[in-house]
Amino acid sequence: MDINLISAQIKEDLDKASSLNDLEALRLKYLGRKGVIAELTGAIPSVAPEERGVFGKAVNALKQQLISSLEAKQASFAAVNTQPLETVETDLGMPGIAQDLGHRHPITGIIDEVCGIFSRMGFRVLEGPQIETEHNNFTGLNIPLEHPSRDAFDTFYLQDHQKLLLRSHTSPMQVRAMGKNKPPLAIVVPGRVYRPDAVDASHLFMFHQIEGLLVDEGVTFADLKGVLEVFVKAVFGQGISMRFRPHFFPFTEPSAEVDISCIICKGKGCSVCGRKGWLEILGSGMVHPNVFRQVGYDPKRFTGFAFGMGVERIAMLKYGINDIRLFFENDLRFLKQF
Ligand code: PHE
Repeated sequence: MDINLISAQIKEDLDKASSLNDLEALRLKYLGRKGVIAELTGAIPSVAPEERGVFGKAVNALKQQLISSLEAKQASFAAVNTQPLETVETDLGMPGIAQDLGHRHPITGIIDEVCGIFSRMGFRVLEGPQIETEHNNFTGLNIPLEHPSRDAFDTFYLQDHQKLLLRSHTSPMQVRAMGKNKPPLAIVVPGRVYRPDAVDASHLFMFHQIEGLLVDEGVTFADLKGVLEVFVKAVFGQGISMRFRPHFFPFTEPSAEVDISCIICKGKGCSVCGRKGWLEILGSGMVHPNVFRQVGYDPKRFTGFAFGMGVERIAMLKYGINDIRLFFENDLRFLKQF
């Protein structure tokens, strides 16, 4: 084995190398376990004793030289990235990898749709804090101290802050908005609310509501009905019927729950509507004079209506969803349908 010949061959190979792949092939050829250098090293014992020292040193020098040449060449490739395109194993004609585009969550979609309907009727969209005072959530809304909804079983109170809680409805924004603004006033308020309910197909400890409030001189129950009719038909279709069922809320008088004709059976009676033909969609009524007094509005001069709806419930009815938990499991197979 002629070291000079091998050295010349190495030089030639290095000059020809034009990519990182070529360099790797050379490294294997010369420095690999069965490579040329290993072969030379293996041959050292069979060299005549008087030449062995010189030969050994020459092999070692050759090896060091090769290693530094490979490193230098590798660094120069990396620095200027001169790797020719045809050696890159990429087919530039292939279609790209499309990025999945996200979209609105179905609950956000319903909030935007409903707030859009009301803002076209002149309502302003407001948002409020999820941590509220007992006053805004209860007292300012004419909810008496002994009312069961104030119980810790029905409301999350903040530890160490007896007077703070997670709002159990969006109605406290009635108190905030009227406290800050003089009538006339027309607002809708979307947002999260919290109740310590056991989780099942129709209950969560957190859900969304949209509150509505309109106050002016001479506002009547007929105005409430007219506004809600526009809303219901815009969301569920022109063919839907609506009815008011007397109800009680401490902050409205008179109060009513609003039902729509069942969108599944069209009012004939089915399992979704419990054979009633009607589905409850929101609570509403004329603002109670005591609520006006709390915020300094004159109940003799002003009247108004308020309503509150559950967003998940509207979404479930509109899309035929039978389990509220689906909205918050982040299962893309579910979410991608909307
Ligand atoms: N806040 C009531 C609830 O959560 C709904 C409601 C709002 C009723 C406004 C009347 C007026 O059940």
